[in-house]
Amino acid sequence: MDKNQTERIKQRYNRISSVFDLMDYMIRDQWRKNLIQEAFGQTLEVGVGTGANLKYYNSNVNVTGIDFSLKMLQKAKKKAEILPSHYKLLEMDAQNLEFNDDTFDTVVST
Ligand SMILES: C[S@@+](CC[C@H](N)C(=O)[O-])C[C@H]1O[C@@H](n2cnc3c(N)ncnc32)[C@H](O)[C@@H]1O
Repeated sequence: MDKNQTERIKQRYNRISSVFDLMDYMIRDQWRKNLIQEAFGQTLEVGVGTGANLKYYNSNVNVTGIDFSLKMLQKAKKKAEILPSHYKLLEMDAQNLEFNDDTFDTVVST
């Protein structure tokens, strides 16, 4: 995607970050739970958003979540603060991942 398009989408997510969790009522918790329970080892969640999946990871999973929208990420960080496990949450564009090859066992995107 070209830079302008990427920036437009990023700004759109920044704008809707405050209402995103309200819109999430369409997604059943059980769908998230079923998927996230499959994650193991070093796990990358791409587009972690407001962190709706975080509470479903098993405690032995090492989760790194990335998102290019700082405002969505801020919401995820707030959720992560009150969860027992540690989550690494980073501002990053999925089109330009800053990880070495073979870093992750599982990649999640919802
Ligand atoms: C539809 S939301 C879903 C959020 C979360 N995965 C969930 O299930 O609730 C998509 C998320 O992906 C992020 N996103 C979209 N394109 C991205 C990109 N190129 N790099 C990083 N994050 C991206 C958006 O900022 C947004 O937070």
